[in-house]
Amino acid sequence: MAEPILEVRNLVKHFPLTRGILFKRQIGAVKAVDDISFTLNRGETLGIVGESGCGKSTVAKLLMNLEQPTSGQIIYKGEDISRLSGSALKAVRRNIQMVFQDPYTSLNPRMTVGDIIGEPFEIHPDAAPKGDRRRRVRELLDVVGLNPEYINRYPHQFSGGQRQRIGIARGLALNPEIIICDEPVSALDVSVQAQVINLMEKLQDEFNLSYMFIAHDLSIVRHISDRVGVMYLGKMAEIGTDEEIYDHPTHPYTQALLSAVPQPDPSVRDTRERILLTGDVPSPANPPSGCRFRTRCWKAQDKCAEEVPLLAVPQRFRGTGSRAAHESACHFAEERDVVHS
Ligand SMILES: Nc1ncnc2c1ncn2[C@@H]1O[C@H](COP(=O)(O)OP(=O)(O)O)[C@@H](O)[C@H]1O
Ligand code: SF4
Ligand SMILES: [Mg+2]
Repeated sequence: MAEPILEVRNLVKHFPLTRGILFKRQIGAVKAVDDISFTLNRGETLGIVGESGCGKSTVAKLLMNLEQPTSGQIIYKGEDISRLSGSALKAVRRNIQMVFQDPYTSLNPRMTVGDIIGEPFEIHPDAAPKGDRRRRVRELLDVVGLNPEYINRYPHQFSGGQRQRIGIARGLALNPEIIICDEPVSALDVSVQAQVINLMEKLQDEFNLSYMFIAHDLSIVRHISDRVGVMYLGKMAEIGTDEEIYDHPTHPYTQALLSAVPQPDPSVRDTRERILLTGDVPSPANPPSGCRFRTRCWKAQDKCAEEVPLLAVPQRFRGTGSRAAHESACHFAEERDVVHS
């Protein structure tokens, strides 16, 4: 049975848009995250996909308490952690760590690898006694597949893949339960991506980690995720198991995204239906009324402009036992065979 470890409820983050230098006045808001709810279960990987600017990193920052939500809740073990501060926040932080996209800029170039990986112990001294920290850092290097003898080297002496391993080692230092990964392999060469993904899967089993895995590459997300959420312009469009989302998508946006995934098998490419989206992604400062996808949706009708579609199992699929019976925020959700696997 799935045990929720993190529950996000109606999470909203609006960044104020201001005008004026001395006398700032708010003239609007960027609705980066606009009423999103989902659950992360213990030991699972929840993938989050969506085009650039749809709010993925903002969700990650809210979960990490690096941004304060405009409204909504983040429930961790029964407690709303979204507005904690001081020692209560510090205690929670220990259990929720983050791995960032760019291993080139997220590691301080003037610190040795040993100091980088051991840095969390400075903030949480009780996690490893002072005399034991070097040993623990060596152990972490070994866990992520790096030579423990490299402890005194600097980030520039490592390749991109190795640097991301250093980032992962630092993320593991405090024995967290949850790791939020924001595009952890997007900056890496394709050949190196697989190695880092394999390492992350191995570590997940070994330490019973729960991952939130953010990426714009749908193939990578399918490979690593148990469940997948698709975001569009600050909203969750569709969420379900990897099989439900990839083989039985019911939201037009998901169908369009999937139809654009490069298909390695040429015989498949020939028969596949390709959905071309027209128009640009609207500004999150001025999103369309009703369904946010309606300005690009080939199925849009009057109702789509009037009513915000709720993320729920569509009525027509309820109780059918079909894989299409998963949550989709579309008034006219239906299956469309876009990917022949
Ligand atoms: N600190 C900020 N102030 C104002 N707008 C922001 C800020 N951070 C992000 N945004 C805006 O919020 C939207 C979502 O951004 P982001 O979460 O980074 O998307 P993603 O990670 O999916 O590419 C974008 O329009 C972005 O410009
Ligand atoms: S609600 Fe309407 S506009 Fe939105 S995805 Fe469904 S059909 Fe398209
Ligand atoms: Mg981002």
